[in-house]
Amino acid sequence: MNNKITIGSDHGGYRLKTEIIKHLKDSGYKISDLGCFSEEPCDYPEIAKAVSKEVLADNGMGILVCGTGIGMSIAANRFEGIRASHCTDTFTARMTRAHNDSNILCLGERVTGLGLALDIVDAWLKTAFEGGRHQKRIDIIDGVV
Ligand code: RB5
Repeated sequence: MNNKITIGSDHGGYRLKTEIIKHLKDSGYKISDLGCFSEEPCDYPEIAKAVSKEVLADNGMGILVCGTGIGMSIAANRFEGIRASHCTDTFTARMTRAHNDSNILCLGERVTGLGLALDIVDAWLKTAFEGGRHQKRIDIIDGVV
């Protein structure tokens, strides 16, 4: 099993990213942290680009955190093959894995409290893609059919 998670945030998501990294390391995941590394202001699209490229290269999973989670999801979804999902509850976190094969989870530090954010991360990581009719729909997004 590939248990590597690529993670990134801007300054607005830095503190939540730090907590998510601790939580995931405690759960046995290997973390690739692509920044930022302080609360100094930085540009979220640069971080989204770096994480998206690594997720695509690994065929892996990533997490992006900003103030709202929205800027990161807009930026990451510009990369073909990235299915970035901004989630604020565990139901959509599970469903976006099961039906959309989401490969990047986006969270907003200024929106979602720490306890819920960690539950969302766990729900997202533990849910498998269902494939079948859902794969066909992803193929349509990707222009394969
Ligand atoms: C930074 O202030 C904030 O704009 C950013 O973290 C994010 O919320 C953008 O969508």
